[in-house]
Amino acid sequence: MKVKEIIGQITDDIMTNDPMAKEGLSRVDGRLKVTGRAKYSAEYKVKDLVYGVLVGSTITKGTIKSIDTKKAEAAPGVLSVLTCFNAPKIPGYQTDTPTPKGPLKIFYNDQVYFNGQPIALVVADTFERALFAASRVSAVYESGPHQTNLKDNISTAVAPGRGKDFVKGVEDTWNMAPVKIQQEYTIPTEVHNPMELHATIARWDADDKITVYTKTQGVKSTQRSIAQAFKLPPENVQVTAPFVGGAFGAALRTWPHEIAAVLAAKVVGKPVKLVLSRADMFTSVGYRPYTWQKVSIGANPDGKLVGITHEATGQSSVYEDFTEGVVNISQLMYASPNINTRYKIVSLNVNTPTPMRGPGEATGAFALESAMDELSYQLNIDPIDFRMRNYAETDPGNDKPYSSKFLSEAYKIGAEKIGWTNRNQKPGAVTENGWLAGYGMAAGMFGAHRSSATVLARMMADGTLVLQTAVTDIGPGTGTAMVSIASEVMGIPAEKIKFDMGDSSLPPSPTQGGSQITSTVGSAVHDACVELKEKFKSMAGNIDATNYTQILKQQNLDKLEVTTSSKGGAEQGKYAMYSWSVHFMKVLVHPTTGVVKINKAISVADAGLIISPKTARSQMIGGTIMGIGMALTEEAIIDHRYGRLVNNNFADYHVPVQADIPQVEAYFVNKADTILNPIGAKGMGEIATIGVAAAVANAVYNATGKRVRELPITPDKLV
Ligand code: MOS
Repeated sequence: MKVKEIIGQITDDIMTNDPMAKEGLSRVDGRLKVTGRAKYSAEYKVKDLVYGVLVGSTITKGTIKSIDTKKAEAAPGVLSVLTCFNAPKIPGYQTDTPTPKGPLKIFYNDQVYFNGQPIALVVADTFERALFAASRVSAVYESGPHQTNLKDNISTAVAPGRGKDFVKGVEDTWNMAPVKIQQEYTIPTEVHNPMELHATIARWDADDKITVYTKTQGVKSTQRSIAQAFKLPPENVQVTAPFVGGAFGAALRTWPHEIAAVLAAKVVGKPVKLVLSRADMFTSVGYRPYTWQKVSIGANPDGKLVGITHEATGQSSVYEDFTEGVVNISQLMYASPNINTRYKIVSLNVNTPTPMRGPGEATGAFALESAMDELSYQLNIDPIDFRMRNYAETDPGNDKPYSSKFLSEAYKIGAEKIGWTNRNQKPGAVTENGWLAGYGMAAGMFGAHRSSATVLARMMADGTLVLQTAVTDIGPGTGTAMVSIASEVMGIPAEKIKFDMGDSSLPPSPTQGGSQITSTVGSAVHDACVELKEKFKSMAGNIDATNYTQILKQQNLDKLEVTTSSKGGAEQGKYAMYSWSVHFMKVLVHPTTGVVKINKAISVADAGLIISPKTARSQMIGGTIMGIGMALTEEAIIDHRYGRLVNNNFADYHVPVQADIPQVEAYFVNKADTILNPIGAKGMGEIATIGVAAAVANAVYNATGKRVRELPITPDKLV
């Protein structure tokens, strides 16, 4: 079959099965992206640009006794080699309140906390020369005994900071139930690995003024961090990031390499570009931490839950406590009279983790939703039926009513689309062409948030509407959603609307993270447009109030604008607000080799009203694929003898590719949440991934009768 025929056929399949694919606005920045005109951080043409390359520590714990920079400095084109011994002091580092722990301060002292920690930055007139010179930097260390293995160190786990154990009813009541399970689950370290490498171009425009092009999920938060580090007024720090090539949490904070680029630009008196290598991406910008969990659930024979106990221990670095909501999902998901959770972290000689899509909830859902599946087999109750018997009608933690919850509708849609009636409750009973076939499902949830944002809306004389706010778009299609909202409120076509973002000089918006941007910024766009419309109405006289150009002409104005701030209100305390998802998988497992093929994947979300169907669908599919990677292939492996990663590259660290991914379909209940915000949308980024890994593991069990509790589910675990 010719390629064109194959592509045609695949496209037709998707279109017929998935009506969402055709609805709504196409990506407003799609053409810029596919033609290469969308500029990413490393791509800015800056005059007199020079290049930085980092040198990482080759030991895992210890002290740097000396660094030999002479050979590097003698290499052609080298302008400077910065180390902890010669780098100028970063002013904000010196005045920080001394706390025992905190973010890694680059070149601050001679201590090594993890393998690959940056110990030098070479700056040269070309990237190749910087790279060559970096290979000539050598250090003498005094190394000490390191710890990188969570399992070996689990006895040192501590409850972090103010982290309290959660208790509803009586602790550990699961144990009294007639039907019960208790199992341990682990997930390995996973790395975000967006396609775009983290990159920073830093250019000092004056002694106290700087422009920074950098990969970030929040231009305003990066502006604050750099201003703090270099003791500058925030408005003197211009941060620009209109396009971000994926991030998934890895660009939620300002990392040491960004501070290093700013520092180096000051030292050499020229703009510096610093692009992380793919290997650096494994040690410099966070990851989903290795986590051990134990889930214990008890039920009555009728399937009613008696108690849930969920314990988890994740890893963090020795210099910073990273915590996430691993056990939260068990406090929130099911109506059980007794629920308790315990969460701890272990400090290891690794870099600090950072939220990775779905963050802790995705980790927690793997354990909870696997355990629920295990118990459903013991009870001999269909897994959907079992979940419906324990469906929470109010928040199990505090009994608050939900602002909206249509998870049961999502179950129905997903069950129908995957063909759930073809599932056999007996594991290992069905074969298809010599492969074992199985079905699995698992649910997810994540808080639906709305914080504050400010949007400028300006109607130009030619009828063009310009919207401006500082938010970034890491990929989901924020601009497209915002243009859709404005188009509807103003009653003008999308082509007439321009959405400016990713620039710290624009009105403030939050960091893109935590699935809150459509709700937060979308509401601000909505409110700004409503206000602008009102303003036109008050000036309209006897002209039609929506004939904006005519009104401007009559008033002799070249534009009319409003700047509107918008945020959530009292409803946030009165209601429990969540987005919900359910993922269904059909898998085929080869009985001899243990190879797992996803045959079909269906994800259904209750994410409120869907603002931008095409990009929402893409986002759900992307999240499902990320979850499939979590389930089947992704694992960053440390050789604990050396404390060093052994697979810090795309050849050995396996993210799913097209050939691994079957037809994935995304569906939405698409009912407005009328309480969270005026646009009815909840969030979607995290729930797209939360629950996926458990759905795969549950389908593998249904196919084979083998329960894999340690991700990823590689063939060796099935033979
Ligand atoms: Mo998301 S893990 O908040 O980028």
